[in-house]
Amino acid sequence: MRKKIVAGNWKMNKSLKEVEHFAKAFIDITSDSDLKRSEVMLFAPYIFLSTLQSHFSKKNIIIGAQDVSEHEKGAYTGEVSAPMLKSIGIKYCIVGHSERRKYHTETNDQLREKLIRLYENKITPVFCCGEQLEERNNGNHFNVVRNQIIDSVLSLSEEMYKNIIIAYEPIWAIGTGVNASPDEAQEMHAFIRQLFSDEAGKEFAAQLRILYGGSVSPENSESLFARKDIDGGLIGGASLAAESLYSILQSSNA
Ligand code: PGA
Repeated sequence: MRKKIVAGNWKMNKSLKEVEHFAKAFIDITSDSDLKRSEVMLFAPYIFLSTLQSHFSKKNIIIGAQDVSEHEKGAYTGEVSAPMLKSIGIKYCIVGHSERRKYHTETNDQLREKLIRLYENKITPVFCCGEQLEERNNGNHFNVVRNQIIDSVLSLSEEMYKNIIIAYEPIWAIGTGVNASPDEAQEMHAFIRQLFSDEAGKEFAAQLRILYGGSVSPENSESLFARKDIDGGLIGGASLAAESLYSILQSSNA
């Protein structure tokens, strides 16, 4: 049985005060049994990682980074390396979010390098993939997602990607309030699982966790998470308030 994941992606939101408020509120409403059946992860801006780690040190909640440099160290002003994340105890990191691909022109090759840096530092990647609306309307969505995964992930050795978590995030669904329907998401998740089955074997594919992201909310999470190949969500807007993230967590335990 694959354990579900409820992962918040805070993007570039919150002040220190708001982070502390969230942490207190989330700890107040979440019991240990809520955290047994699904894993909760919070992907926060770098400067809040240590604060969150100290707030959640006694809770079974994983704190992760939203990005990592493809370089190991050196003259890259403003960048944060995988060894730095490792040095503060970070074990999970998002790679290839569509906002990084779009606003920072990150390429599949660059993302492949990032995955290697994470592997070297024993950090588990949450690798994002997903198509634009035009690509879906042209019937090209499966090709786009296949190429993203093959170029960045499956071109590595299995040893390097064995712990990966995939997040399917159709770009047209991110931050728009229009989520992929459970059928559309399930169809793509099954496609991704089959791709891994073909390339890495049935057993690998059977344990691979594939999250859905794009306008997940307390209203739609239960019907999305109920589908066979959807192992939880990567949640942006609805993860910013403790109450709505908690409702989504409850639906993952339903
Ligand atoms: P959203 O963002 O839930 O606000 O659509 C999801 C994401 O970008 O990870």
